Amino acid sequence: MSEQIGVTGLATMGASLARNFARHGHQVVAHNRTTARTDALLAAHGGEGDFVRAETMEEFVAALQRPRRVMIMVQAGPATDAVIDELVPLLDEGDVVIDGGNARYDDTIRRAAALSTTGLHFVGCGVSGGEEGALLGPSIMPGCSAEAYALVGPMLESIAAVVDGTPCCTHVGSDGAGHFVKMVHNGIEYADMQLIAEAYDLLRLRLGMTPAEIGEVFAGWNAGDLESYLVEITAEVLGHVDAGTGRPFVDVVMDAAEQKGTGRWTVQSALDLGVPVSGIAEAVFARALSGHAEQRAAAQKVLAAPAGGGADIEDRDGFVEAVRQALYASKVVAYAQGFDQIAAGAVAHGWSIDLGALATIWRGGCIIRARFLDRIRQAFADEPDLTTLLTHSYFRDAVADGQEGWRRVVVEAARSGIPAPGFASALAYYDGLRAERSSAALIQGLRDFFGSHTYHRVDRAGSFHTLWSEEG
Ligand code: ATR
Repeated sequence: MSEQIGVTGLATMGASLARNFARHGHQVVAHNRTTARTDALLAAHGGEGDFVRAETMEEFVAALQRPRRVMIMVQAGPATDAVIDELVPLLDEGDVVIDGGNARYDDTIRRAAALSTTGLHFVGCGVSGGEEGALLGPSIMPGCSAEAYALVGPMLESIAAVVDGTPCCTHVGSDGAGHFVKMVHNGIEYADMQLIAEAYDLLRLRLGMTPAEIGEVFAGWNAGDLESYLVEITAEVLGHVDAGTGRPFVDVVMDAAEQKGTGRWTVQSALDLGVPVSGIAEAVFARALSGHAEQRAAAQKVLAAPAGGGADIEDRDGFVEAVRQALYASKVVAYAQGFDQIAAGAVAHGWSIDLGALATIWRGGCIIRARFLDRIRQAFADEPDLTTLLTHSYFRDAVADGQEGWRRVVVEAARSGIPAPGFASALAYYDGLRAERSSAALIQGLRDFFGSHTYHRVDRAGSFHTLWSEEG
């Protein structure tokens, strides 16, 4: 199957996707606001396939056969709106506009609604995998109507990563569904990285291991259940030595993490949906804390460390294994929470999202690709109505088997003053979820006391209010 697509916006991601389309036999009409970028792409890679150079937007649109397929690969936000505004008057009914940028899903909902009034299709398309993924096969999350998917789905599937013969691209749902799940994907990525960083910190500070030694531990973990792109590259980054200084690379990097915003959006959305994504939230907050240089400098001078928390750990191998268990169990929790958010988002926005299909397309191409996602795919195949991943027999048993190590690590972190918010909050979530009675009963009592907010009883139906001053 070879078709034609127009790509406008040929910076890192756009150029890589354009090349990917061309390498798969599709004709690519290439356009960029600044023509020099188009020329650079064609000069360097024009021989990889059938490229058509378009200098102006008019030329670009004229070179495309109807129904036209136009992929926009420019910065999210106002730049995307500007390009849409420029394109729309030039297009005809039935043409398809695909936004492959990192748009906010609410912007995508707005744009899809606006374009539908003009008879154009709009596809909000999440693309994960960075530059390499875009070129060699990303994970693609399109949100659009079934009609639009029929026009662009096969092309997108043809350039996606492939795992076990299945392309990492699926029709996620309508309008903003694709960008919504891409957002949560990025949030999960934040949580995953935070947990990895905590594992590293504990091994380094508690066992005194070197970064290179810890890199080897991660390489070993990558041969087991934790096998994933992020664990694999953690081993590489930890083993890397800074050429200039000869020091471990991690030691020459400033310890203040940056963020582009998708983790924060995920948490904002989760707050609106009322879904506790504590793993993602802790990751976002940990990054924020790392960036508060002034507060950290002031605190380092005066805040007390725990007394006597640093006794040597005798069974070093046992502790390494406990950290692995903490990492795996916390990861299960973070993913369970992320999938909960997607399920809640689907209900709130009227999207029909197949969670198993999503786990399937995240197995390859994207940053969170992992063996683990095949387990999640299997869990939803076994139990399509699963209310939380944690109760599926595989994950339930995996967490149960690792919980002793998990608890040991959280205790050890607290006792020795090593921050492990991801591990600790995941454990609190796990215990909160399985508790027979939650402490919220007392909260309801307090709310009724000070605000007459009423409460429900365990033994009778209806709402109740206690006349506190009379009974008290
Ligand atoms: P990436 O992350 O892939 O490197 P980006 O920073 O998200 O790219 O987006 C950069 C692209 O958006 C460029 O192609 C840029 O065009 P120029 O090369 O002319 O700068 C494009 N872009 C940004 N604002 C734009 C606008 N208002 N109209 C058209 N294209 C725009």
